[in-house]
Amino acid sequence: MNITESLRDGHEYLGYAVFAVVVVSVVRAVMQGRAGAEYSDGLAKLAGMLLPLQLVYGIVIFVQGRFWEGSWLIAIIHPLAMLAAVGLAGASTARARRADSASESWGAIAKFQGIALVLVLVGIGAASAG
Ligand code: HEM
Repeated sequence: MNITESLRDGHEYLGYAVFAVVVVSVVRAVMQGRAGAEYSDGLAKLAGMLLPLQLVYGIVIFVQGRFWEGSWLIAIIHPLAMLAAVGLAGASTARARRADSASESWGAIAKFQGIALVLVLVGIGAASAG
């Protein structure tokens, strides 16, 4: 296996790991919100940090592999869906910090990262179909 293939595999594996972190973060936010727990942003922050990291990684393999010349699902849909997901994940923790109560904070994480999760799913679907 050459370096290019390893880099692409790395993006794929990290992509699924990031996806898993966002799933757990959303489930946790819903459960903690329902339980009336005090707000803490550990996992939500981790998701908000891993997503942009993966975005930069994606741009590297995109440019290196000239993926804009290939399928529109990978050239357009995958990057756009992921870009929107990164924005929402960033907005989720900012909103949660500004909220007046813990339940509002958990609600902001659940809502914004929940939509981000759907976008990540769409993006992964596009990349694997493309
Ligand atoms: C930020 C969140 C991102 C996540 C979670 C993510 C995740 C993934 C995953 C899981 C795959 C493999 C899909 C499969 O075949 O089953 C993939 C493929 C790919 N991603 Fe991303 N990605 C992200 C962002 C990006 C961005 C911003 C770009 C480009 C600008 C990009 C470019 C690509 C390309 C070119 C492939 C195909 C690689 C290949 O077929 O060898 N990704 N991504």
